Amino acid sequence: MSVGTGRVLRMAYLVASVAGVGFFALSVVLLGYWPKQVLDAQTRAMGPEFVLELTPSATRGRAVYAREGCAYCHTQQIRYLASDHARFGAPTLAWETRRDYPHLWGTRRIGPDLSRAAGTRPDDWQLAHLFAPRALVAQSVMPAYTSLFDGAPDRPRQEARDLVAYLNTLGRARELAGAEGESRAQQACNCADDEMAQMAFHGSLNTHPAQARRTREAPMLPDAGDLPRGQRLYAARCASCHGPRGEGDGPGAVALLPAPTNVTEHEYASARIGAALWNGVAGTAMPAWRDYSPEDLAALVAAVRALSAPGTEAELPAGLLERGRQTYREHCVQCHGERGDGAGPAAAELTIAPADLTSGRATLARTVATLRSGIPGTPMAPWTARLANADLIAVAHYVRSLYEPAAGAAR
Ligand code: HEC
Ligand code: HEC
Ligand code: HEC
Repeated sequence: MSVGTGRVLRMAYLVASVAGVGFFALSVVLLGYWPKQVLDAQTRAMGPEFVLELTPSATRGRAVYAREGCAYCHTQQIRYLASDHARFGAPTLAWETRRDYPHLWGTRRIGPDLSRAAGTRPDDWQLAHLFAPRALVAQSVMPAYTSLFDGAPDRPRQEARDLVAYLNTLGRARELAGAEGESRAQQACNCADDEMAQMAFHGSLNTHPAQARRTREAPMLPDAGDLPRGQRLYAARCASCHGPRGEGDGPGAVALLPAPTNVTEHEYASARIGAALWNGVAGTAMPAWRDYSPEDLAALVAAVRALSAPGTEAELPAGLLERGRQTYREHCVQCHGERGDGAGPAAAELTIAPADLTSGRATLARTVATLRSGIPGTPMAPWTARLANADLIAVAHYVRSLYEPAAGAAR
């Protein structure tokens, strides 16, 4: 080997090691430091001035979430994808998780994204689901977290309550930022022409299709639903709560308040069932089924109607309805409304909407039982202490007479 070649080789080692260290430093700057600077600046510019701290309970719940490995199956980061946007709401902005350290974004999307889980399900659903996911969602692969309970879904330990408190904070920061926060973020983003970035600002935040909403919207459904298909869907999706025969006795019914409706004791106008499926029943565990096609929804309507058998009505003694009407005007109008459509003056203040008595009715026996014991978990209280028995029976007959089988609107 000549002296010259030795020098070149030594130089090559030097060049290679300097270049190696150089590229390492460059990648740290480009992939670590620079994005952090950009994100920090973006977070400062787009985030609201104040972001609420978690409560002590939610902080403990966050630790339970991390410990139990929820993040192995659930992400907390909605991507800039149309499919994510439709299922979970607006894509997550950087500032939304700025208090989240260490972060729980997750990477595997086996279960739904939970970024905006707050408010999508009521607490009774969350607890019953953590205790036994398959009692509510028949084909779920989520493990049961029975160790967070004292043997029953309605006996949660502090850890389960904390975990639900934590779930109820997810997405809250963005929601609390409100319209003001949105316009601040949009201005700072300065991205009016960037279609992808605009996704983060489109539509309402909590657009989870299963989030129950309190609207009277009813979907346009085909007139005749495919009954066998509806029965298959019912068995897979609804029987877990409403029971195989619709009697409200599925495995999920145990801990839900209000309990799933016993549909065999009810008759409904088709549009009412369609609206209940489209909107869910806000304030209860009844989810909305907005990701179903109109054909599937119509099939489900047929399946529910097949379970609920309308009875024959007895002739009523004269004066009974009039007595019932007076009792109704005195005691029930403020919630159920003049016409019985559930739009009384107090209705807006109630979490669970008063029943629309024009588009559905229960059997006489069920109606009397409802008036005697109320509907636990809802503002419908028992009336035995306030009404004489004769008035109670009269008003039961009266509210049943309000039913119109062809009623178009729902609650
Ligand atoms: C093995 C994967 C897996 C693990 C671990 C897991 N989940 Fe799930 N989770 C799922 C799947 C799949 C679903 C969808 C089916 C269902 O609703 O049960 C789901 C659904 C949910 C939902 C309902 C979301 C919605 O909008 O419908 C919540 C809330 C939830 N999980 C919370 C948790 C929490 C809290 C933990 C940890 C204690 C956890 N999950 C652990 C797989 C998992
Ligand atoms: C997680 C449990 C659960 C599941 C799953 C469920 N429901 Fe419900 N359902 C409820 C609860 C709770 C109520 C409300 C009871 C109340 O308001 O008193 C309800 C109410 C209803 C009502 C009455 C609505 C009204 O306007 O009075 C109908 C009809 C109904 N469900 C049909 C279905 C169908 C069809 C499915 C399947 C696609 C289904 N439910 C799935 C829990 C469930
Ligand atoms: C404070 C408001 C309020 C008052 C007052 C009230 N209700 Fe209700 N009622 C409700 C709510 C809320 C529901 C629906 C709960 C649910 O979704 O399960 C309901 C449900 C019902 C149902 C059940 C319908 C069904 O499909 O099963 C009947 C029947 C009923 N009310 C009759 C009456 C009568 C009769 C009176 C007067 C004596 C009355 N209510 C007074 C709030 C009220």
